[in-house]
Amino acid sequence: TAARLTVDPRSAIGPVRRRLFGGFVEHLGRHVYDGIYEPGHPAADDQGFRGDVLELVRELGVSTIRYPGGNFVSGFRWEDSVGPRQQRPRRLDLAWHSTETNEVGLHEFADWLDKAGSDLMLAVNLGTRGTLEAIDLLEYANVPGGSTLSQRRIDNGRAAPFDVRVWCLGNEMDGPWQLGHRSADDYGELAARTAKGMRQLDPSIELVVCGSSGANMPTFGHWERVVLEHTYDDVDMISCHAYYQERDGDIDSFLASAVDMDRFIEAVVATADHVGAARGSSKRIDISFDEWNVWYIDRVASVKPTAIDDWPVAPRLLEDVYSVLDAVVFGGLLISLLKHADRVASASLAQLVNVIAPIMTEPGGPAWRQTTFFPFAITSRLARGTAVRVPIEAPTIATAVYGEVSAVDAVATHDADSGATAIFAVHRGRDEPVELMIDVSGLGEVEVVESHLLHDDDPSAQNTLDDHDRVRPGTVPTRLVDGILHVTLPPVAWAAVALR
Ligand code: AHR
Repeated sequence: TAARLTVDPRSAIGPVRRRLFGGFVEHLGRHVYDGIYEPGHPAADDQGFRGDVLELVRELGVSTIRYPGGNFVSGFRWEDSVGPRQQRPRRLDLAWHSTETNEVGLHEFADWLDKAGSDLMLAVNLGTRGTLEAIDLLEYANVPGGSTLSQRRIDNGRAAPFDVRVWCLGNEMDGPWQLGHRSADDYGELAARTAKGMRQLDPSIELVVCGSSGANMPTFGHWERVVLEHTYDDVDMISCHAYYQERDGDIDSFLASAVDMDRFIEAVVATADHVGAARGSSKRIDISFDEWNVWYIDRVASVKPTAIDDWPVAPRLLEDVYSVLDAVVFGGLLISLLKHADRVASASLAQLVNVIAPIMTEPGGPAWRQTTFFPFAITSRLARGTAVRVPIEAPTIATAVYGEVSAVDAVATHDADSGATAIFAVHRGRDEPVELMIDVSGLGEVEVVESHLLHDDDPSAQNTLDDHDRVRPGTVPTRLVDGILHVTLPPVAWAAVALR
């Protein structure tokens, strides 16, 4: 079969903001402890951070990193995580039924970010705390000096402010599992009050209000409308969270997960614009897609208390091992984000190390790349300039969940300054290869400078502790004749081609 695509830089969608390639580090399981931080490890630096993990994080190319949760943040007291380490309290984390030692806190994590070359995005606790604590944290983090809390930061070793640009007003407040879960009205009022207070202190910050934890939430749509009616003038972005998994062997629907992400984004944009229109506002609210990934959530063991004295430190939680199939779906989700670069201003892959993560580690042992590492690293490196819409004529696939969907999805980016173009494509068909005929005549004289293919004859192939290099991306043969780029994609494949 064949598909026709056109890449013309005049079909601009929006800027490729670096924040689209953000990550997320939550105090959860072995993410921080025994993940990024393992003082006894041979690769640990003088602060206890694993150098091999840092190297992989840099290679992944993550921009802004959301911290410290997640569900964790709704029980978090930020003051616990600063000051002399020996005096920091050990706390029970109700979200993940673990003990938080606070050995790694705000300062240590900021140091780690400096080493990783990424920026900090902070979430405040609006589950069990309120406006005052959020303002206090902002003062501690962003005020240069001259006040008690800014001085405390200086005394704790950071003379210059952390200067955190983006702040999340709580986490998943629509979810009944969330500590301090509220109704849309209650949360909207609290978020508006908190946003106003935070801006009184630092008008330059960007604020993200909680949207839905998923498009399948019973309150989806209603939640966004009500929350934005309260907060429209006070926030910049509304969050989206989405996780996908193969269910009941329905691989075709799983492969089409990005169709759901497309619809989710478009529904939230429509809802936000509706609220704006009803207010006669010319302001536009963008999306922070600050949790997205493949996650086999149905396999998560219960984190409900097993016993009153059972609060492990850094237990193995949510350690999904990803297959090639998962990585192809994942590559499709990145395409969906780029296709909406006009309104998705920021996104965070959830998460980064060990916990539903592209990077895995073993205590005392190696760190390695999961299959999902590759589409992220390649897209983050090649996507530059402006996202470009790619019209597609392709065969369709019948799916149980999303109906007929295109077997091929694609997006391009074009950097007018360097002349670099990148095309990202996914083939969701499972039976036969598809020949892509991509009209690139609109780019002028170009040639292929690199190509990458993620595919395996065994789509269930994984990288594991025993075999961490089982899956590696290869290259895909390309032919450029008379302005048409020919690329043949095998079944279940993700590919990227760079031209210049
Ligand atoms: O990323 C794992 C969890 O998923 C986060 O803690 C929460 O925000 C979401 O439900």
